[in-house]
Amino acid sequence: MKDYKRILVTAALPYANGPVHVGHLAGCYLPADIYVRWERARKKDIKFIGGSDEHGVPITIRAMKEGITPQDVVDKYHAIIKDSFEKLGISFDVYSRTSSKVHHETSADFFKKLYDDGMFEEKETEQYYDEEKQTFLADRYITGTCPVCSNPNAYGDQCEKCGTSLSPEQLIHPRSTLSNNPPVKRKTKHWYFPLNEFEPFLQQWILEEHKEWKNNVYGQCKSWLSSGLQPRAMTRDSHWGVQVPLPDAEGKVLYVWFDAPIGYISATKELLPDTWQNYWQQEDTKLVHFIGKDNIVFHCIIFPSMLKAHGKYVLPDNVPANEFLNLEGEKVSTSRNWAVWAHEYLEDFPGCEDVLRYYLTTIAPETKDSDFTWKGFQDANNSELVSIFGNFINRTWVLMHKLCGGKVPPLHLEAMEDDDRNIFNEIKATKHKMEQLLEQYKFRDALFEVIDLARKGNQYMQKKEPWIKAKVLGDDLLAGKGGLATPEQVAARQSIDITMHVCLQLSANLAIMINPFLPGTARKMMHMMKVVEKMLDWENAGKEKLLSTGYNLRAPELLFRKIEDAEIEQQIEKLKAGKPVAAATPAPVEEKVIAPVKPEIVFDDFAKIDLRVGTIVAAEKVEKADKLLKLQVDLGFETRTIVSGIALHFTPEEIVGKQVTVVVNLAPRKMRGIESQGMILMAEDASGKLHFVNPEDKINAGAGVS
Ligand code: 2FM
Ligand code: ZN
Repeated sequence: MKDYKRILVTAALPYANGPVHVGHLAGCYLPADIYVRWERARKKDIKFIGGSDEHGVPITIRAMKEGITPQDVVDKYHAIIKDSFEKLGISFDVYSRTSSKVHHETSADFFKKLYDDGMFEEKETEQYYDEEKQTFLADRYITGTCPVCSNPNAYGDQCEKCGTSLSPEQLIHPRSTLSNNPPVKRKTKHWYFPLNEFEPFLQQWILEEHKEWKNNVYGQCKSWLSSGLQPRAMTRDSHWGVQVPLPDAEGKVLYVWFDAPIGYISATKELLPDTWQNYWQQEDTKLVHFIGKDNIVFHCIIFPSMLKAHGKYVLPDNVPANEFLNLEGEKVSTSRNWAVWAHEYLEDFPGCEDVLRYYLTTIAPETKDSDFTWKGFQDANNSELVSIFGNFINRTWVLMHKLCGGKVPPLHLEAMEDDDRNIFNEIKATKHKMEQLLEQYKFRDALFEVIDLARKGNQYMQKKEPWIKAKVLGDDLLAGKGGLATPEQVAARQSIDITMHVCLQLSANLAIMINPFLPGTARKMMHMMKVVEKMLDWENAGKEKLLSTGYNLRAPELLFRKIEDAEIEQQIEKLKAGKPVAAATPAPVEEKVIAPVKPEIVFDDFAKIDLRVGTIVAAEKVEKADKLLKLQVDLGFETRTIVSGIALHFTPEEIVGKQVTVVVNLAPRKMRGIESQGMILMAEDASGKLHFVNPEDKINAGAGVS
């Protein structure tokens, strides 16, 4: 591993055209904050950069629709977003904005440098234009009928009904979403960045030198690179954004994805006007971009190519992107208000900032999409934070006050047992495991280790039962009135002291370990322990003597409260109420596909079916059979011919290379004179479209499915 002197962490700049929701937090801001807090606790030279992305088409459209200026839109949401981040403890060193002067200058200079170096190709093309609104239209703002499924409301970049990627030219009867008029084609000039020329560099830098990147990130980069890169226009026709810094560029601004990542540089300049270059232009800086999966191409392919083209900048060491967070089993949709908004959560659950941080970290979509449910949120709070972590700390404090006079009792080394020593070993082991996980950006597992350690604390206390030992002493002896007369009394006193001492040192360790995840909770614990912030330094984790014997501690504070069913029901109601009725009530077509459950079978019935993963290696149409395709499927042990009724859903070309699940021990059947030696599993969605049932990641052909 490279020896870095300083770390620069960025978190994707959210668009300032709406508030942030739990999906944003889980996907990007929380992991970034946990990482930064951990590195800060390790005394690393680290800066955490954030800000609002205030350019781009959605902001201008929103302004147009609301009859306000784009600046009004971004001012409003920048303030809301910044406030939510602050309240949730997302500890940016700077939270800037791309409408700032320094950003306009920085990104214009960046563009000019590439321009002067002859990087851009100037090209004139025809693009759709809305004559009434006098504006060019981004693909998303053109709708029309989908040429594939006839959905009358397909977008110019994609049909959301059948999922086909489209270009606006393919839409039947295209309309502008702004005026509802048919758009016209107009010539326009733009500056194209030759991404294709950076392919060899990217191949080497990512595919060879960064094999350690997360699978989802590496895989997406690989697939972008294998389909070949094209030059990309880095300018747009608009009046909102960074003016293209060239004389003949009136009405042209930098493409939002050109200027937004430069926003990280501008914000660093704002934070460190004199030393920002150390963080961006010194080889011994570790640059880490935290983002969601929809931003991978911009942070791994486009921005690094821009940095490389410029020549003076470091490239990211890692881009630990997360997948998406769904909500109650459905995709988050801001337009349908199917979201849990951060600012609303903060109002509805005051004082529960760490609970959201906790739950979102436990379900973070680190390797695949995951699901936020209000019930899950309640369970995480009540069964983990309250019952495990909070319970351990609370019991420790209550018993320490009751049995040890509110002071850290002595340890009595000579009387320690294996159980006692074992807790110290567990603390050290947890620290070690956490370090390994956090280095690899595995925040979910690292947090699990902390909770598991608290769970062990509870088990230990339960086993030692200091409250039972207290009975041997009685109230007076416990209160220190009179001497210990019998060996039983001495043993009981020592046992209580040891248990409570161990639990207190464990609590102090838990405060250090939970601090990056739940900083508010760590602060409360610091207060209870009467220690200064320095105790939370990571180098203290694993230590056995964080609290000195005889030290007076404060009374317990409630770390977490129970979340009641009624609160959860209210949130679910609220969520449903925000959804338009049409979307909340399933359309009849959706009801039709829910088939009744078949009669029960025993396991042996199921075990008779031999299911394997196969790879389609060839496919062709079957003559005079509209619905059938003849496939060659590699099953690892042999390649078989399988006839499948999927021809109305897929062309032969698009399915070669796909993985499928095959019933391999089904008796062969002849179809149109061809013997089919197996069956491919398919799932049918609400619209009747078929989907292959296949492993999430590519695996070896022949793998068993059970
Ligand atoms: O996807 C988004 O929300 C973008 N605004 C992220 C920009 S990240 C960066 F490049 F600034
Ligand atoms: Zn369609």
